[in-house]
Amino acid sequence: MTEYDLVIRGGTVVTAADTVRCDVGVKGGRIVALTEGLDTADEVIDASGKLVLPGGVDSHVHIDEPPFYGVKDAGEFGTDTTAAACGGTTTVIPFVRQDRECSLRTAIQDYHAKAGGRAVIDYAFHIILLDPTDQVLGQEMPALIEDGYTSYKVFMTYDGIAINDGEILKVLEAAKTHGAIVMVHAESDHCIRHLAAKLDAAGATSLENYQRMAPQPVEREATHRAITLAEIVDVPILLVHVSAAEAMEQIRWARNRGLKVYGETCPQYLFLTDDHIAQPGWEGAKYLCAPPPRDTANQELLWRALARGVFQVLSSDHCSSLFEGPDGKTAHGPDPHFRHVPPGVPGIEARLPLMFSEGVGKKRIDLNTFVAVTATNPAKIYGLYPRKGTIAVGADADLAIWDPEKDVTISVDMLHENLDFTPYEGFEVKGWPVAVISRGEIVVRDGVVLAKPGRGTFLACERADLTPPVGTAVAS
Ligand code: URP
Ligand code: ZN
Ligand code: ZN
Repeated sequence: MTEYDLVIRGGTVVTAADTVRCDVGVKGGRIVALTEGLDTADEVIDASGKLVLPGGVDSHVHIDEPPFYGVKDAGEFGTDTTAAACGGTTTVIPFVRQDRECSLRTAIQDYHAKAGGRAVIDYAFHIILLDPTDQVLGQEMPALIEDGYTSYKVFMTYDGIAINDGEILKVLEAAKTHGAIVMVHAESDHCIRHLAAKLDAAGATSLENYQRMAPQPVEREATHRAITLAEIVDVPILLVHVSAAEAMEQIRWARNRGLKVYGETCPQYLFLTDDHIAQPGWEGAKYLCAPPPRDTANQELLWRALARGVFQVLSSDHCSSLFEGPDGKTAHGPDPHFRHVPPGVPGIEARLPLMFSEGVGKKRIDLNTFVAVTATNPAKIYGLYPRKGTIAVGADADLAIWDPEKDVTISVDMLHENLDFTPYEGFEVKGWPVAVISRGEIVVRDGVVLAKPGRGTFLACERADLTPPVGTAVAS
């Protein structure tokens, strides 16, 4: 019998803290050795000239959710986890969306049925709280946290989805009492309604007006309010999909005051702008998400904030509406109206290559920060660390072997997302994973998917230990 099931030899191993030349020995799905000169293995991958990174943790993805704006997802757990793996991600955390008057348990069972038998990589679940009754918060939530559902998302906008400040306070109190983390979609519902009504009245409904319905102050105000609510309760929160400098400044301000406020941004805010949405006709729908992408000046400010630790998490916020057809972003009528396009863009596969190429390759962030924000920090914040998100003896052997010189032109035809568009069509990137390993099994090699549907397993999250806070301190 050989000592290792798999050895990855001669690569440069990168974690959030270190970059070292060593081999990786894998046995029973876990990393068991990190040293030089490993040889006796059933299988050896030559990683010379390559980077060996922790498999990515994409901690904000929407997979097979109920229809949104009347449009259902084209992706499901098979397609979307395959796409994730092809892009170097080995753990995803999608959302369970609770229907009103439906128990959280029932909703969770539905999602397990959707994921089991299909997912090719491991997954945990966040829960979207639409109806935080006393029964939900006092009885269901504590039991669910025990079972590994430790993160809850609340929305401050969207018809039928938003909850009010009083409800958010109750959710935060329950999170504090029972040990959960609350994720907040921070956009001011009243401001959006007010501006949307004015735009409607003026007939300014084409997609170029979308940005006018949700300008930066809409996000800034809600971000500040969410931080205030969390401060009052004295509990950590995470602001999701932060689009621009004004909201980001609120997070920096809060962290500098010692509050446990975390921030997430996404590729769409680093690579897209409002000009993409303002294109004539329906074209802009391919780029429409909430909050809206802003401008190139904001992109640069977000990159700087990532490098300085204002953001701890970089996720895709992957959404899988088609563009064409009755279940597409263009489904609602002949004339584009910005209020009728389901917000959200795909990105589960391109997330890591885009960030590696434009972030590390263009020296906006270093390699260790890349690993921190795309794998290690989300694993820590959501209670999956050190099993996921790092390369260490005892951790799951979830690895992406990365060719830093591989040139790829992103196009919908080469992605695995089961969609008819990508907002990153034609983007040229340098760097792509050549082998992706999940619990010691090679799931993708040279672009060929080797994983069997259903091999992915559910991960019960621990209560996150957020002391000391995840991520670096933030100054000016
Ligand atoms: O545009 C977005 N972000 N759509 C997905 C739903 C959400 O708010 O995360
Ligand atoms: Zn959201
Ligand atoms: Zn989302």
